Amino acid sequence: MNFTLSSKPISDTKADCLVVALPEKGDWPASTTQANEALGGLIKTLQKNGDATGKNATTQLIPLEGQPWARLLLVGTGIDKDRTPANYRKALIAVAGQIKDGPSKHVLIGLSDTVVTGEDATSSEAARLNLIGRTLEEQFYRFNEFKSEKASDRKLGKVTVAASSAGKTLKDAFNLGLATGRGMNFTRDLGNTPPNICHPTWLAEQAEKLAKDNDVIKTEVLDEKQMQKLGMHSLLSVSAGSAQPAKLIVMEYRGGKAKDKPYVLVGKGITFDTGGISLKPGEGMDEMKYDMGGAAAVFGAMKTIAETKPKINVVAVIAAAENMPSGTATRPGDIVTSMSGQTIEILNTDAEGRLVLCDALTYVKKFDPEVVVDMATLTGACIIALGSHATGLLSNNDDLANDLLAAGERAGDRAWRLPLWDEYQSQLDSNFADMQNIGGRPAGTITAACFLSRFTKDYPWAHLDIAGTAWLSGKAKGSTGRPVPMLVDYLMSHAGK
Ligand code: BES
Ligand code: MN
Ligand code: ZN
Repeated sequence: MNFTLSSKPISDTKADCLVVALPEKGDWPASTTQANEALGGLIKTLQKNGDATGKNATTQLIPLEGQPWARLLLVGTGIDKDRTPANYRKALIAVAGQIKDGPSKHVLIGLSDTVVTGEDATSSEAARLNLIGRTLEEQFYRFNEFKSEKASDRKLGKVTVAASSAGKTLKDAFNLGLATGRGMNFTRDLGNTPPNICHPTWLAEQAEKLAKDNDVIKTEVLDEKQMQKLGMHSLLSVSAGSAQPAKLIVMEYRGGKAKDKPYVLVGKGITFDTGGISLKPGEGMDEMKYDMGGAAAVFGAMKTIAETKPKINVVAVIAAAENMPSGTATRPGDIVTSMSGQTIEILNTDAEGRLVLCDALTYVKKFDPEVVVDMATLTGACIIALGSHATGLLSNNDDLANDLLAAGERAGDRAWRLPLWDEYQSQLDSNFADMQNIGGRPAGTITAACFLSRFTKDYPWAHLDIAGTAWLSGKAKGSTGRPVPMLVDYLMSHAGK
């Protein structure tokens, strides 16, 4: 797909389809007014007769004759005060759905002049172009790799997005949006790839490929022997039952000054989670191939960063392992010593995410991080608490937590903070070791984060539980690409100018 930004008036651009917004009430954006004039008042008539209501995310396709555009796609954009970034995005998704498999080869989009509510940054044209770029790229995603009959090629080959200027600020914002969409799609490819292919060694190869394709990224992969030496016995206890060896994958992007402390991203990369000896029930177990969703999001964010090259240092660490039962698997009751020296009684081998993450979180101290953000499909309890709309956020630092919440809000990829109070810590008391790896049924997402917090005392840290947001179940089953938009927005807002 070819995406371009154009500052020409829409009537000077020929296209198979012109897309403009119709708000439910109030003033029209300039492109709607221009289209209406060119079409002899057609849009006004449709509105007056009640054929087009402007309700958010509704669409109408109208054939045209004798115009620079062969058809008009009107998209409802609702009422001005309700037009949050999330609702604006719903309208964009509706547009993408209409054009992606339609007859138009070239579509011209006039939606960057529709005003969105919220703070200045969000309501600016740059922020809207970012959202348009990302949404288009991400909505055109398909995953056909394993179908013998490939989906037919799309007719649509070119999308032109109209903007008030093609200056650097707007172009950069649009390109960042496109790169974010590509990052999300990379995350989704990884998440959708079956677990017989996507194992820890394969993930490590993806990192090496990313480094090969992007000069700005350097990759290092630690094998089990190296991890033994570092004392990562907690991480290694998870791969003990698997024929696939664990890997610790490190990717470094240095776009900032040498002395700038890096922003460190840590991802849970369980390429398949059977539960181990604490075996999960069979139904829906296939979905545990996405238990590397945290790792996949880290990959996606690194790809976006590599393509857009912000002035910031970012280090990514992925703890990749497969959780399998076998004669060599870890037993409930086993006690292991983590890299930090703290001992862990493993009461449930299905609480494996925290076991791999704790050693990765100890390992990252060597980078002297500015902040550390880990992401993981960590607890089913998070799906119960927040469903699939909000990522769970827990942090030992209010500034970091608020920054991430704000980034999620701007990007339409939201998180919700849960408490990390000391009162919850005692649920992890063990009779035999420094701690146990489960905290019982109450507050499962919080006690999982409490466990991690014991390894993150030396730096500002936030944990994102993406069990509900990284994946969709049911008919639209598959990886979503979240929380790449939140991460990218967060990192960009901390990059040097
Ligand atoms: N990967 C799962 C969490 C999960 C469950 C993610 C469902 C997405 C959908 C994690 O490793 C796990 O099994 N967690 C247990 C923890 C429990 C044993 C304390 C859980 O949530 O049941
Ligand atoms: Mn598990
Ligand atoms: Zn898991």
